[in-house]
Amino acid sequence: MRAIVIEDKHLVLREVPDPEAGDGEVVIDVTAAGVNRADVSQRQGFYPPPPGASPYPGLECAGVISAVGPGVTDRHVGERVCALLAGGGYAEKVAVPAGQLLPVPAGLSLIESAALPEVACTVWSNVVDLARLRKGKTLLVHGGGSGIGTFAIQLGRALGAPVVATARAGKHEALRALGADLVIDYTTDDFVTATREFNGRGADVILDIVGAKYLSRNIEALAPNGRIAVIGMQGGRKAELDLGQLMAKRGSVSSTSLRARPAADKARIVTSVARDVWPLVEAGAVKPVIHSTLPLVEADRAHELMESSEHLGKILLTP
Ligand SMILES: NC(=O)c1ccc[n+]([C@@H]2O[C@H](COP(=O)([O-])OP(=O)(O)OC[C@H]3O[C@@H](n4cnc5c(N)ncnc54)[C@H](OP(=O)(O)O)[C@@H]3O)[C@@H](O)[C@H]2O)c1
Repeated sequence: MRAIVIEDKHLVLREVPDPEAGDGEVVIDVTAAGVNRADVSQRQGFYPPPPGASPYPGLECAGVISAVGPGVTDRHVGERVCALLAGGGYAEKVAVPAGQLLPVPAGLSLIESAALPEVACTVWSNVVDLARLRKGKTLLVHGGGSGIGTFAIQLGRALGAPVVATARAGKHEALRALGADLVIDYTTDDFVTATREFNGRGADVILDIVGAKYLSRNIEALAPNGRIAVIGMQGGRKAELDLGQLMAKRGSVSSTSLRARPAADKARIVTSVARDVWPLVEAGAVKPVIHSTLPLVEADRAHELMESSEHLGKILLTP
């Protein structure tokens, strides 16, 4: 098969051996793969694949099952699926544990469904499972225009949570259309003041992709009993935590990485997403936001686009 290989921090299409379906795995013939910020870090040499994962980039895909490994009884060749991967999505074929497969939501094309597994599992596991977002609680989404952000805004709205998002000015109208009640230009305005003014108390849940640079200000922007879920470190990894400031809010900070979680954890998250999130997708309350779809051979160009941050939502690659 052909797959994207990282050579000198560039993405090159090469002929490589086909993957095989191991115990509990299936092989998917990939129709489309999602591009994620983590793939850019992997290409740059900052984010090596976890042990046992494919060396090729790509954390999510959609396609058709072409082989079923030993021990898999509930999947069959020819089935259309989308999947959460630990790597290897930028390829014509990928092997994946059967527990990480999701059905293609009714009403979506196979290609569209490739935009969902990574963002749906990341946002659901952090915002709903860990930070317990509920109806009426305010959600602050940093990076509202990202793949993650465009999904989080819609999920928050669908759950009945008022949503505040940060983004550069050119993306505001689109984020309001997705359901954000307030969009803050983080380059000119103070998100702490704006979030507090929005509801008089601050955010009950904050989904943060910036990390160190925002830690202190996120606590300032937090409502009493609020939860901060840090999932990115675009603004650095080391910061000073003022425990007094956090205690006064009775707040909490969590931080997780989906890719490194054990397969059993991923399977639990995937099952919950299929049960709780897919019905919202099938009802049209949460839609994949796809900025562009490029051929796999143009993976380098897809990364350039992602690094420019000119995109809104997801970038997809098609073999
Ligand atoms: N921990 C996990 O399990 C996990 C899983 C998936 C993703 N992530 C993380 O989630 C983040 C988003 O991933 P993605 O693939 O959706 O990325 P993406 O589409 O490339 O989006 C990144 C966005 O960050 C925004 N941004 C940069 N600096 C910002 C700031 N100071 N304040 C607010 N927004 C800012 C940019 O938007 P503007 O144009 O508005 O600046 C850009 O669109 C990444 O950091 C990624 O590593 C973590």
